[in-house]
Amino acid sequence: MNRINIFNLDIGYNEKKYVNECLKSGWLSFEGKYVKKFESEFEKLIGDGFALTTSNGTTALELTLSTLGVTYGDEVIISDFSFAAPINAIISVGAKPVIVDISKSSWCIDTNKILKSITKKTKAILMVHTYGIIANIEEIKKISKKKKLFLIEDCAESLGAKYKSKLYGLSGDCSTYSFFPNKTITTGEGGMIIFKRKNHFEKARILRNQGRKKNNKNFFHIMPGYNARMSNINAAIGYAQLKKIKQYLIKRKKLFSLYDFYLKKSELFEMIPVPKNTENSYWLYTLKIKNFTKSKRDKLIVKLLQDGVETRPAFYPLSEMKAYKKYIHKKYYISNQISSSILSLPTSLDLKKNKVKKISNLLIKHTKKLNKGLKYK
Ligand SMILES: Cc1ncc(COP(=O)(O)O)c(C=O)c1O
Repeated sequence: MNRINIFNLDIGYNEKKYVNECLKSGWLSFEGKYVKKFESEFEKLIGDGFALTTSNGTTALELTLSTLGVTYGDEVIISDFSFAAPINAIISVGAKPVIVDISKSSWCIDTNKILKSITKKTKAILMVHTYGIIANIEEIKKISKKKKLFLIEDCAESLGAKYKSKLYGLSGDCSTYSFFPNKTITTGEGGMIIFKRKNHFEKARILRNQGRKKNNKNFFHIMPGYNARMSNINAAIGYAQLKKIKQYLIKRKKLFSLYDFYLKKSELFEMIPVPKNTENSYWLYTLKIKNFTKSKRDKLIVKLLQDGVETRPAFYPLSEMKAYKKYIHKKYYISNQISSSILSLPTSLDLKKNKVKKISNLLIKHTKKLNKGLKYK
């Protein structure tokens, strides 16, 4: 069997056409027309706020924190179970990350534990919608309002998720997105921020361009800033991809249903949580293997790869990594337990039914074998 990748890109006619247009016109930098076009279409999709492209999802977070004035002496609350970009962004602006455990029922930050972690220094809650799960957003919004904290949502994995039957994008002060190739849509490298308030958007636009204001004197900087601009070439790819997002979401939803059909009945797995009134973004088909240890999960990954199926373990809890040791002062039982038994399966748009069936059967076969403690050669 040919290897089945965790994810395959879908680059079509328009992506190539628009990129060629950039190359022919000579407009390669962020001044080209596709940057504005992409921002404007993204804004329409989210249906709220002001959109600003960035060089990637991590600079989107850094720019957001800087725009909101988060800096030395401030604390930002985040979940222990997430890709490391949010914690890295918090550290990069000089603030202190305050790490909170997750809830078993949502795999996202535990709302009750947020309250216990708020101090006089807390400036913001950075909520990650891990694996496209929209969890407890009303409650978190209430907490941030009551305690006068900024609410930043990291939607890198949740583009396309729904809340109360509508596409979900922005509840707090700003939401950030990533367009890395494995995301719902890609620009190669790239990111986006949606700001609720225009003054935040305008400040971020200046920060993004080395602290310069458009139409100002050339090389005249009004504040220290970043170069976090997206190129016209990346935006051209994103603009073409965005036109296909509705199609993508339909295909992804079908793929998730197919996996559910083959895997749910086996009772070996716990499916991804779907909180009330929400629909997942169908980013990566991810499940938890019941009563599994980390070493069994890691053996399972090797066994599936030997059979030609690429899978992914979960994110390591931040608290497990030496890099963040100085911010860890307690145990994070739930994120450790969830992270060690999670597996993501191939979720390419071109994955055919027979392949989904094959992957599912292999997963069931190897999980059963490992459960029985059968020795592999
Ligand atoms: C939750 C989350 N935030 C941020 C990022 C960072 O995005 P980028 O790789 O575009 O910097 C990612 C990327 O995978 C992510 O999963």
